[in-house]
Amino acid sequence: MGLERHLKSNSEQEKNDPRTFVFDPMDMEQAREESDAADIMNNRTILITGGAGFIGSHVVRRFVSRYPQCRIINLDALTYAGNLGNLEDLGVAANHVFVKADIRDAEAMRRIFAEHDPDGVIHLAAESHVDRSISDPMAFVETNVTGTVNLLNAAREHWKGNFGGKRFYHVSTDEVYGSLHDGGFFLETTPYDPQSPYSASKAASDHFVRAYGNTYKLPYVISNCSNNYGSHQFPEKLIPLMINNIRHNKPLPVYGKGENVRDWLWVEDHAAAIDLIFHEGADGETYNIGGHNEWKNIDLVHLLCATMDRKLGRAEGESAKLITYVTDRAGHDLRYAIDAGKIGRELGWKPSITFEQGLERTVDWYLANDAWLQGVTSGAYRDYYAAQYGDR
Ligand code: NAD
Ligand code: DAU
Repeated sequence: MGLERHLKSNSEQEKNDPRTFVFDPMDMEQAREESDAADIMNNRTILITGGAGFIGSHVVRRFVSRYPQCRIINLDALTYAGNLGNLEDLGVAANHVFVKADIRDAEAMRRIFAEHDPDGVIHLAAESHVDRSISDPMAFVETNVTGTVNLLNAAREHWKGNFGGKRFYHVSTDEVYGSLHDGGFFLETTPYDPQSPYSASKAASDHFVRAYGNTYKLPYVISNCSNNYGSHQFPEKLIPLMINNIRHNKPLPVYGKGENVRDWLWVEDHAAAIDLIFHEGADGETYNIGGHNEWKNIDLVHLLCATMDRKLGRAEGESAKLITYVTDRAGHDLRYAIDAGKIGRELGWKPSITFEQGLERTVDWYLANDAWLQGVTSGAYRDYYAAQYGDR
């Protein structure tokens, strides 16, 4: 199936579809490796948590399409950030099962493990927005810490020490390493120094995963990734929020002086890294994932304005007039920057596209999917926006 599928996936239409996995038919070695990975996944069941969210939906889409003989159990509570519309293009796939459940509910996690008998877990479900963690830290403790421990317990109890072929993959963030002030990069060995309630909750969950590996020998792998961007990202995060506001001629709220630096990675490259680590990462290891793509917020917002001016046929400089400096985020981390050398050297991963290409695709997606944006920005989003930005 694998080889045949790759050889068929090169029509011009598919090449232009950002959701299509396009491989050069001449690259038989890569196709063979893909085919082997698909074979290894035959008849396996993988539980993906948070699969209706931004990154999770890209991971689910990738696994459901690439591993047709593997059952994907997509567990998500469908909070404000989760949306089954993110997976609409998958249609009805025989190997995709959606389960609405809350990882804070320990009993429900046990039931789901008993019912679906997963061989592996890829855990993405989380409260993910730093600003929300500042106004409601307990929600982050409950989902990110307790929820993760509930899953670890369910896995440990269900697998009962028979860990052959089992894996618990915890998806984490570069924010656990704190803030860089004097140059340098985050390595896998950088000491943890979380600065926000969000990053503290993710750091705690990382520690629990490692503690279960050490104490109970639960086979795990962890990755810590930099800022993602791409389609289906909830517009509370910088890039989709700015695109949405530019589109509607609303002020563009830049925190502080806009001097903070983030390292941006296209979400589909993160999903590819997760796929690779899940299959080829070593037990008990951590892999940093990043784009080697640092941008000051204000420069990125200017780039988005220029891109949108071009796409919307506005005069050059028009959208940038919307830029408004607002009160800074409390405890705002200055700079994140990942050294992704280990995953490159050991697993051969690197980003597949440039930032310019990724940003073009991203802006095009939001402009072509206005109904999706309208859907997620009605109702509760307005209250959130008013509370967060009203008198900032
Ligand atoms: P997201 O907020 O878009 O999605 C989170 C998903 O988790 C949603 O579908 C939501 O419904 C679900 N969820 C939340 N609470 C839940 C609960 N109690 N029970 C079950 N489901 C629940 O987040 P995202 O940006 O896609 O991030 C996914 C993961 O990747 C998170 O663990 C995050 O910490 C990590 N991460 C994100 C980034 C980034 O730039 N977005 C970078 C590195 C790591
Ligand atoms: O580094 C990985 C992390 O990246 C992930 O773990 C988080 O889940 C994800 O939300 C993201 O965190 P950030 O806080 O870096 O992302 P956010 O998009 O919220 O903000 C990016 C930068 O832009 C940050 O310096 C704050 C700034 N900002 C953000 C918003 C929403 C603004 O200036 N204005 C805004 O309105």
